[in-house]
Amino acid sequence: MTATAPAPTPAAEALRPHAEQSHAAELAALAAADDRPRPPGWKLSPWAVTEYIQGTTLPDGTEITPKYIGARSVVEVAVATLATDRALLLLGVPGTAKTWLSEHLAAAISGDSTLLVQGTAGTAEEAIRYGWNYARLLAEGPSEAAMVPSPVMTAMADGRLARVEELTRIPSDVQDALITVLSEKTLPVPELAMEVQAQRGFNIIATANDRDRGVNDLSSALRRRFNTVVLPVPQTADDEVDIVTRRVAQLGSSLELPEVPTGLAEIRRIVTVFRELRSGTTEDGRTKVKSPSGTLSTAEAISVVTNGIALAAYFGDGTLRPFDVAAGIRGAVVQDPVSDEVVWREYLETVVRERDGWDDLYRACRETERR
Ligand SMILES: Nc1ncnc2c1ncn2[C@@H]1O[C@H](COP(=O)(O)OP(=O)(O)OP(=O)(O)O)[C@@H](O)[C@H]1O
Ligand SMILES: [Mg+2]
Repeated sequence: MTATAPAPTPAAEALRPHAEQSHAAELAALAAADDRPRPPGWKLSPWAVTEYIQGTTLPDGTEITPKYIGARSVVEVAVATLATDRALLLLGVPGTAKTWLSEHLAAAISGDSTLLVQGTAGTAEEAIRYGWNYARLLAEGPSEAAMVPSPVMTAMADGRLARVEELTRIPSDVQDALITVLSEKTLPVPELAMEVQAQRGFNIIATANDRDRGVNDLSSALRRRFNTVVLPVPQTADDEVDIVTRRVAQLGSSLELPEVPTGLAEIRRIVTVFRELRSGTTEDGRTKVKSPSGTLSTAEAISVVTNGIALAAYFGDGTLRPFDVAAGIRGAVVQDPVSDEVVWREYLETVVRERDGWDDLYRACRETERR
């Protein structure tokens, strides 16, 4: 029997195409318009990468959609770092688009965002260096064919970016495997008396969550090899509403959800609820509220609205109503059924109930509780 390799899934069929697939047309248009110098191994110049991330309209009229919505300077520092010999660490609280930005950076710079190591407490050195196909190793002894390269090794050999997600969850001794990679730009394979030398264009983008601080802090040797860029939480409610609105529209069209008019007003209310609970005070600064245990990030607001749209489209009347989002808001806020329930109830009674024009949301929230 001959084994046939599975055919690669066409991008159009994939549930979630990679950034370089879903934005192939934008990347091609940018490459064509880009006459600035490109660092060795890069598909685009740093300028074009930044335009891809922030969005623009090209001279030929091609619309480049914004990916990361936030300060341009943050993106410029990140992109510039990747053109140096230091690696990039994106740091921030949950839901600040660390993973999202790293995927798009890899897609724009290397044309490939798939060289990914997911960091967990169980990540082993093989995920950063290389492993073995044991059947082959036993049958044929050590050979290049029996070696299973890690995404980092592949990125080095091909001169691309590798992504390491949740770096600080990886045990410290495994993290340290990155030190040689980043300082010597080589990965020795003693079993085969060889090494893989990083080609131009290789670098690493790591992400780490602020909340994991202290889990497996980076050793100082490793920290010195990274430039840290902190991704901030959206400063104003308007910024956050803007992010949620755009991302919900993009998600809705990629999920092919039926068209649902999303009232900006509804999105603004959800963002307001999340911001107030997160910060512990109402927007006017007059009332203190308790914060729940979960992270009410922009990412959660996006998913509450998207879920609401699905509810409205498939079970409601085709318009986003308070009722479609009430269960989602409650689900996001009440992570701990005891303590968060108290926090939510108090917020509902003291803030939502009293606020002008919010009585429909109040009623919808109370209604969801009774069911
Ligand atoms: N400033 C922003 N611009 C664009 N999208 C954003 C922004 N902030 C959050 N998002 C959206 O939030 C969602 C979650 O982002 P992402 O998963 O990258 O967060 P993260 O920082 O990696 O979180 P975690 O620490 O939980 O891994 C994405 O869909 C992303 O598009
Ligand atoms: Mg992430």
